Amino acid sequence: MSETAEKKKVIFSAIQPSGTITLGNYLGALQNWVKLQDDYNCIYAVADLHAITVRQDPKAFRQNILNAYALFIACGIDTEKSPFFIQSHVHTHAELAWVLNCYTQFGELSRMTQFKDKSQKHADNINAGLFTYPSLMAADILLYQADLVPIGIDQKQHLELTRNIAERFNGIYGNTFRIPEAYIGETGAKIMSLQDPTKKMSKSDENVNSWVAILDKPDTIMKKFKRAVTDSEARVCVGEGKDGINNLIGIMSCVTGKTTDEITAEFEGKGYGDFKTAVGEAVVEKVRPIQERFDRLIADKAYLEEQYRKSAEFALRLSQRTLDKVMKKIGYVAR
Ligand code: TYM
Repeated sequence: MSETAEKKKVIFSAIQPSGTITLGNYLGALQNWVKLQDDYNCIYAVADLHAITVRQDPKAFRQNILNAYALFIACGIDTEKSPFFIQSHVHTHAELAWVLNCYTQFGELSRMTQFKDKSQKHADNINAGLFTYPSLMAADILLYQADLVPIGIDQKQHLELTRNIAERFNGIYGNTFRIPEAYIGETGAKIMSLQDPTKKMSKSDENVNSWVAILDKPDTIMKKFKRAVTDSEARVCVGEGKDGINNLIGIMSCVTGKTTDEITAEFEGKGYGDFKTAVGEAVVEKVRPIQERFDRLIADKAYLEEQYRKSAEFALRLSQRTLDKVMKKIGYVAR
């Protein structure tokens, strides 16, 4: 994206570099990121600063960041169109996050369901970063004056808070930040666990059969789908109390582009065993070319480095403008 690019709307989004990027991340977020690249000025990041709210092993962390970077390019992020950088390479994020912390209320942060969930899961490490995480996410978005933020439903509350922080700041100092809107895809907004389809598919789930990783081997993917929890009705159709089948139909629809009706018609009279095998096979076919591209990219460190450096330079120039404006409005002395 060039800085003089025609006035398309601006999109910003980011994903944490956890060791496993799941089918939920792909269908809920990444697939949309790729589709949006032609119609918007998109800026994307690997949110590595966010990732240390839980303890990371240094060696594995470094590798996970690079893996995530390579994997997203393998999924179709085109750095020529969409700057795609590593968050910790662009210092304006941490700086604006501090400023926004001072315009975010304790009560607001206490109400974040992700904070409540994660503090339960990591009761031995409820650190201040976990608590103030949404101010950093707000900084990520507001620095680029984003119009739209593609996310899954689980991040909606953080986006609402971002809007509130931005409106509060604008209310005090005059128009400074554009107020962003969530962009939630029609399909894939919430991919559920294969083992407990009332919960979202999450890489932090201890039951490895509950999620599918984009880099899982074909036979692992097939095994996980064959074990997916369903119901006793044995009819492939969307319905109440059929969370497992609803989720599998949703996944099938996302990966093949077929509508729910088309899928229902195709599996009329067939059992759940056949359907689960078909969903597994469709997912395997979807991720196969991504995995092949990933293997090539991860071996080419020089190429990756060139892409993340170039993107970080661009992101720094753009975000510095917003940060300078913010600092001036607050009353800081210019450097
Ligand atoms: P993260 O890394 O947990 O997830 C990345 C994206 O994937 C979506 N997602 C899902 N969508 C559908 N079904 C699921 N089961 C599922 N699981 C995850 C998430 O909604 C998200 O869009 N805080 C963010 C990362 C972040 C960010 C940002 C996002 C940092 N700064 C600025 C947008 C804008 C996070 O932890 O997402």
